[in-house]
Amino acid sequence: MFYEPGKTPHNLPHDPFKACVAPRPIGWISTVDREGRPNLAPYSFFNAVHGNPPMVMFSSAGSVDSLANSSATGEFVAAVAPKSMLREINFSSSPLPHGEDEFEYAGLEKLPATCVKPHLIKGVPIQMECKVFQIVDLPSPKPDLPCAMVIGTVVGLHIDDAIIRDGMVDITLFEPLARLGYQEYASISETFTVTREDFWK
Ligand SMILES: Cc1cc2nc3c(=O)[nH]c(=O)nc-3n(C[C@H](O)[C@H](O)[C@H](O)COP(=O)(O)O)c2cc1C
Repeated sequence: MFYEPGKTPHNLPHDPFKACVAPRPIGWISTVDREGRPNLAPYSFFNAVHGNPPMVMFSSAGSVDSLANSSATGEFVAAVAPKSMLREINFSSSPLPHGEDEFEYAGLEKLPATCVKPHLIKGVPIQMECKVFQIVDLPSPKPDLPCAMVIGTVVGLHIDDAIIRDGMVDITLFEPLARLGYQEYASISETFTVTREDFWK
C-alpha cells in the first residue's frame, strides 16, 4: 500500500503512522509552572536527539501543561518510563485541570532534583534533568491546539546503581516501556551484542 498523508486516504480502520515508527520510548515529563505547581505526563514522541552534549526531545500535540510549563520556566525532567510503573504512567496521563498534581493523582512520590526545579519521580531508575534548548512549533490541526517539540539539554543524569552491571547500564534490569501503534505497548527484556566490523582493514 501507499498513501500520501493529508492528501490521499490510507483506507485502513486506524491511522498506521505510529505503528510504523515503533517502538518509541516513553518520556515521563515532569515540569512546574511559574508558581512552582508540579505537573507530570507521559510522552511517546520522546527520544534522544544528540549525544554531546546529551539532548532529548518530547513533542506535544495539543496537550497543554508540559509544553506551557517547560516554555515558561525553561526546565523539565525527563524520566524514562519503566514497565513496572505502567499503572502510574497511565494515571499520570489524565487531563487534570491546570495546577492539579498528577503525582498525587497517580500515587507517586516527588523527590527534589539537583539542577532544576521540576521534581524527580521516586522509584524511576533513569531520570534526566533538562534545560530547554529550543522549542520548535509544529503544524497544528486547530489554531487553539498548540503543537510543538521541546528540545532540552541534559544537565543532570540520574542512573540507579542497581541497573548498572559491569560498569554498563543493563537495560534488562530496567525494562523500559515502549509505545507501539494503536493501544499496543512493548518492553525490552532481552538484548544481543553486535561487534562493529573493521571496515578499513
Ligand atoms: C503512553 C502515553 C504516551 C503519550 N504520548 C503523548 C505524546 O507523545 N504527545 C502528546 O501530546 N500526548 C501524549 N500522551 C497524552 C498525554 O500524556 C496527555 O494528553 C496528558 O494529559 C498531557 O498532560 P499535560 O497537558 O499535563 O502535558 C500520551 C499518553 C500516554 C498514556
